[in-house]
Amino acid sequence: MPALPPRLVDALRAADNTVVLTGAGVSAESGVPTFREAQTGLWARFDPQELATPEAFARDPELVWNWYGWRRRLVADASPNPGHLAIARLQRLVSDFTLVTQNVDGLHQRAGSRDVIELHGNILRTKCSVEDAVVEDYAEEESPPVCPSCGAPLRPDVVWFGEMLPPGALEAASEATRGAEVFLSVGTSSLVYPAAGLPFEAIENGAMLVEINPDETPLTPHADYSIRASAGEVLPRLIAALSQ
Ligand code: APR
Repeated sequence: MPALPPRLVDALRAADNTVVLTGAGVSAESGVPTFREAQTGLWARFDPQELATPEAFARDPELVWNWYGWRRRLVADASPNPGHLAIARLQRLVSDFTLVTQNVDGLHQRAGSRDVIELHGNILRTKCSVEDAVVEDYAEEESPPVCPSCGAPLRPDVVWFGEMLPPGALEAASEATRGAEVFLSVGTSSLVYPAAGLPFEAIENGAMLVEINPDETPLTPHADYSIRASAGEVLPRLIAALSQ
């Protein structure tokens, strides 16, 4: 694994504000497959980018609901990995800290992170497809179940391609980003906007930009440091260095 940039450790110690943006790569080591990875088994022949849309749900709600049911079970069976745990520890080691995630799996919270800004919702929550309100109790037998208040089909409370982000989430992420002295982009392909715009906002406002990803992304040429290794390797070492 490449060495940690010593300036990064110093910058994190000195920073008044740190923002971490995470993507599916952080959960990859927990066995949660990303959309861009090959699907397995039963769902191998479906293109996730075709399933995670309002159009797909309108066309075939049962198919989309069942696909999310499969993903929900994967998430329920997964556990936070050393990358998630290190991010939760980082929150306690540095002063003002904000975690922004594109992940919908809730693994950051299960690792102990607090006040997580979820840009793309959470797969474990369900909402009414018409009223947009979160629904806790519904009859599980149907696929999809129906809203107890209005009878419309229920859907996962996630952001589908072409949909707006949850009100307030992007604003909160953007505000924290503008004040960040250090911004870490971890495990994201930096392809999906508006989340992919956050690191650029950070750079414009003078932040040190650090990317942790085994692969190059469109953000790589703009980063002060690009650490080409997995989140589960790099982040625990960063915590160890910070704790010394
Ligand atoms: N550690 C760090 N990064 C990793 C690891 C790892 N162990 N494994 C893979 N990666 C990187 C990949 O190289 C890739 O760049 O994580 C990135 C995952 O990219 P995507 O699958 O595109 O995930 P993400 O960036 O979160 O996608 C954004 O698009 O799929 C939609 O709405 C969905 O929230 C998602 C959004």
